[in-house]
Amino acid sequence: MTVMEKTRLLNFLEAQSQDAWLRALDEIGPSIHAVDREATRIWFAFWPLELHVALAGSPDPKEPMQIARLMDLEGNWRLEEQIDSSVSFLYGAHYWARVKNAVLAEAEGTSGSLAMTIRSIAENAGAAERVDPSLLLGISAVGLMILRQAGVERLERSKDAKATPPLLPQDPAQVIAKRLRRSSDGLFTFLKGVNRKWDVRWEEKRTDGVFRAINGQDIAMAGGDTGSDYRHLDYRRPAGPVPVECRVGSCGYCWIGLLAGRENLSPITSFERERLRYFGYDTVNAPEETSPLIRLACQAQCQGDVTLTISPWNGELDRRHDEGRKKLGTA
Ligand code: FES
Repeated sequence: MTVMEKTRLLNFLEAQSQDAWLRALDEIGPSIHAVDREATRIWFAFWPLELHVALAGSPDPKEPMQIARLMDLEGNWRLEEQIDSSVSFLYGAHYWARVKNAVLAEAEGTSGSLAMTIRSIAENAGAAERVDPSLLLGISAVGLMILRQAGVERLERSKDAKATPPLLPQDPAQVIAKRLRRSSDGLFTFLKGVNRKWDVRWEEKRTDGVFRAINGQDIAMAGGDTGSDYRHLDYRRPAGPVPVECRVGSCGYCWIGLLAGRENLSPITSFERERLRYFGYDTVNAPEETSPLIRLACQAQCQGDVTLTISPWNGELDRRHDEGRKKLGTA
């Protein structure tokens, strides 16, 4: 890719708003293989363009840290430090190195629209890997957004790296079947009624990435009941694998993306919906969806098995950003 072509592609991507990216996702959504349809939207919720714009908007290197403090960002919110691990919950991570190369090789910079550019990358990478492009469509959209946020040099630096292992099983049908498999409470499961327990798969790539929830128990509380400390993975996880602080919907630590089984959680309340909006987490949730993709684990009670993935950061994206930039005189 020449400098001019890089500029052309980046200019094109930089002209796309968050809404334009979400419209492109809507357009390609039905063509994304079922194994990654939810995961793709969750990735875009975890790494919204607004977060990047808020932090990268100033040439003053001190300002991003000030903005981060004003937004109460916790965890690791820097996409550029976790490019390869950020994609590892997608099935398409198997082809991540190839997709990165295809993104960097998109010589014309754009194939017409954003959706068409994503399709072109998936087709090129799919042809090279001899796999159906539907399996690469989601991660191709992700690859373009990473280029938009992290830039050519950072993507180029990691272009031969695969996604951070472990990865999902190679057979996508096997991944989907496991997500749909109902857990068992042993003999006489059907007699247990309200005492039934459910599987919460919080990291589907790990054999120990599952805990059990009593029927009606919220996900954060059930994770805490494991009695395990996960601070070695993330300092925000002192009680179980899900980050928690308040447990009442006020801190925003516990946001999760539902890869499967979201209809098995208690319907979202107007309180939780408002809190998701306040934190800026609801970018991919459908407005009136009772079982949206993004939830607060402390507000979502289990009524069946679920598979989820956990965001590496939390914060208050919208209001603090606006207030903060006004305070800093950069708005
Ligand atoms: S733990 Fe604070 S919002 Fe869920």
